[in-house]
Amino acid sequence: MIKKYSYGTPFQTDTIITPLETSASTVEFGSILLSEGFQFTYKMADNDIVYGLGEANRGINKRGFIYDNDCFDNPHQTEEQRSFYAAHNFIIIDGTEHFGMYFDYPGKITFDIGYTLQDTLTVSCENADLNLYVITGDTSYDIVKQFRKIIGRSYIPPKYAFGFGQSRWGYKARQDFENVVTNYRENHIPIDMLYMDIDYMDSFKDFTVNEDEFSDFEGMVNDMQKKHIHLIPIIDAGVKIEDSYDIYEEGKENSYFCKREDGTDFEAAVWPGLTHFPDVLNPDARAWFGSKYERLISKGIDGFWNDMCEPAIFYTPEGVAEYKNYLKNDLLTSETFPNFDARTKAEGLANSPEDYKRFYHNINGKMVRHDKVHNLYGMNMTRAAFEGLEKLEPNKRFLLFSRSSFIGAHRYGGVWTGDNCSWWSHLLLNIKMMPSLNMCGFLYAGADIGGFGSNTTRDLLLRWLAFGVFTPLMRNHSAIGTRNQECYSFEHIEDFRHVVGVRYRLLPYIYSEFMKAAISDDMYCKPLAFEYSDDNMCRQVEDQLMIGNEIMITPVYTQNTSGRYVYLPEEMKFIKFMPNGTISETVLDKGHHYIEVQLNEVPLFIRRNKCIPIVNAAECVDDIDISSMKMIGYTDADYDLYDDDGISIIR
Ligand code: GLC
Repeated sequence: MIKKYSYGTPFQTDTIITPLETSASTVEFGSILLSEGFQFTYKMADNDIVYGLGEANRGINKRGFIYDNDCFDNPHQTEEQRSFYAAHNFIIIDGTEHFGMYFDYPGKITFDIGYTLQDTLTVSCENADLNLYVITGDTSYDIVKQFRKIIGRSYIPPKYAFGFGQSRWGYKARQDFENVVTNYRENHIPIDMLYMDIDYMDSFKDFTVNEDEFSDFEGMVNDMQKKHIHLIPIIDAGVKIEDSYDIYEEGKENSYFCKREDGTDFEAAVWPGLTHFPDVLNPDARAWFGSKYERLISKGIDGFWNDMCEPAIFYTPEGVAEYKNYLKNDLLTSETFPNFDARTKAEGLANSPEDYKRFYHNINGKMVRHDKVHNLYGMNMTRAAFEGLEKLEPNKRFLLFSRSSFIGAHRYGGVWTGDNCSWWSHLLLNIKMMPSLNMCGFLYAGADIGGFGSNTTRDLLLRWLAFGVFTPLMRNHSAIGTRNQECYSFEHIEDFRHVVGVRYRLLPYIYSEFMKAAISDDMYCKPLAFEYSDDNMCRQVEDQLMIGNEIMITPVYTQNTSGRYVYLPEEMKFIKFMPNGTISETVLDKGHHYIEVQLNEVPLFIRRNKCIPIVNAAECVDDIDISSMKMIGYTDADYDLYDDDGISIIR
């Protein structure tokens, strides 16, 4: 059952697509205070678990920390970080009482889940203008399913997007891309997608291509397609300010950019230098920006990643002016030593809350200050692209995913979880985040495999790939200046060929389970407790996941180990994809076990009385030979395989 409560004048975020009557009663759980902004408080029992928050820090159980849902370009995702790239305001309290809550509020909102007081959950935001949805059900899984029904069906990518993709910030010329493909194909490491980071553009201008380096872009796209490679270019939020750059000129002329209070176009520096932000919250501007994707589609492109859409700001002219004043007038006369203010203020030039108060959106003729609706920018940039592509080719699926999101964006595209690092802790974070993302509707999701910042190591990349085999978005991406991270950059390439190959062996299953989940508003990736709700032990397990309805995965995420402990809630078949192409199968009883898993092996467990399809490894999705399909696991059981043409829209 779902009840809607309204406070003040809520902003229409478009998260919820099912109209619901507003309840006249008061919320039956916890208490609500409306004196200073909005505050919901609830006393948690010792054993209560709090699920949700989608792309957020820490564990599957969110207790014991404070989260500021305030989309933030934060490449330093250390344990104490409160804000990540997305804001997903959905939580479930699972314990003595059982309910889910969606706080439909577009600005910064804080979830203090036992941080200030260990037994107290407080959700607060500055303005008491929001809709609150309270969902009751027997289990958390049931609550998620009800929530998913009212937020609409999750985005469905084309089938090729379930292949493996290589990315790196730093590929600049056609030759760089050709080299990557040659290396993958010559080493027979499967690959379907090659991502183009900002350097393919002319001076980082959206929807342009650097003609010096890509004189025949269309020819290149075509050649790649012949090799079964989809080129996926990046599109950034900021439009470069440059006379005679037509996107800039058009946006300016039609008032499609975000404005300052005085009506002038707001300026923010990002990769191209000073830019304007397209006002994607304004339907006209959104349609205009979305229509521009056609420029690359017309060259044969069939997928995009949207970036910098928090929107990230390196600095603004106003921020710099204030900083200069501070340096001139305050710093040198200050008598406080040591004075770290100069450094803090310099760092604070980026993504400053003050800057987010300096610009406005035109929403149905009303100017709305950005900070009030900050968390909606990324969602609406994804929506711009989705709607633009839909208009162009209404019956075709495109690959589309973005960095910043709000619940609602799950209908338009997938997400990657932003700039992580080549740390073992970030592999674990990736594992824990996946089910939470699924609860919020983001099924097509994944992290930068191998880690974006810092230097990866061969073992970390292999372990991460072995987990990435199961994430719908499987992409290796790294930052410029870091160690080369392509699978062929390390010794014993055959290990990488094998691990990535397992993704292709499992692809019919992964695709089938993803599609079934998407079509029926279900989860592809679940915490164990969602399947085994009567098993108390499962409530504690955060490093094993259910993938689809048949399997449980137990990734290895620590260095210098040749295995790990696992918990089995029932008898299961332990499967290992061995480097020589064979599959080892052992039946293990319910309970605790230590399993051996070498760096070049991919483990999974098949649930009792279930089986899954596997095929022979292939070098791209198009080459998968369905006639090689066979079942593994408890093969007396049936498996209900979903398949389709992989490209038509599912109505
Ligand atoms: C941002 C993105 C990253 C990309 C870089 C350059 O940091 O998160 O993925 O490589 O910008 O475009």
